[in-house]
Amino acid sequence: MALRNIVTLPEPVLRRKARKVTEFTKDFEKLVDDMVETMREAPGVGLAAPQIGISERVIVVEYGDEEDEEAPKKLYVVANPEITSASEQIVSGIEACLSVPGLVGEVERYYGVTVKGLNRKGKPVKIKVQGWLARIFQHEMDHLDGVVYTDRATEVWSPREGEEIPAD
Ligand code: NI
Repeated sequence: MALRNIVTLPEPVLRRKARKVTEFTKDFEKLVDDMVETMREAPGVGLAAPQIGISERVIVVEYGDEEDEEAPKKLYVVANPEITSASEQIVSGIEACLSVPGLVGEVERYYGVTVKGLNRKGKPVKIKVQGWLARIFQHEMDHLDGVVYTDRATEVWSPREGEEIPAD
């Protein structure tokens, strides 16, 4: 595994629509491993391939249970993710992004989403998530379409001292 460099705005790859993953080779698994390592090192709660300069539709997410800090974190790897259903409920929350340093913002997201895609081996997966985990998935999937959270934010500001928001 190797750490990759996280790119930041105005890097053009962050504004491009990423291409679908079609081959689940050893090289693809290496990319996924590098993304996981890079996300953990940052540290971040999620990472999309364009954030390391690779214009492919793959995301990694690692986040624990927001109700139980002791619960083990779960790692998700999804290629070609798509939202198949979303809750009617919209919730507002604060986000930060590893590719948009020095800012945080308030963003409205679906409270819950069901995401389908392929795992690191190319096998179909379907994931139902809620709350912060659903927010992270929506944030990461936006990166695959060249969208960053500040595009959607109702308000963006520089974090106050002690205001630490998990970035992805
Ligand atoms: Ni981000």
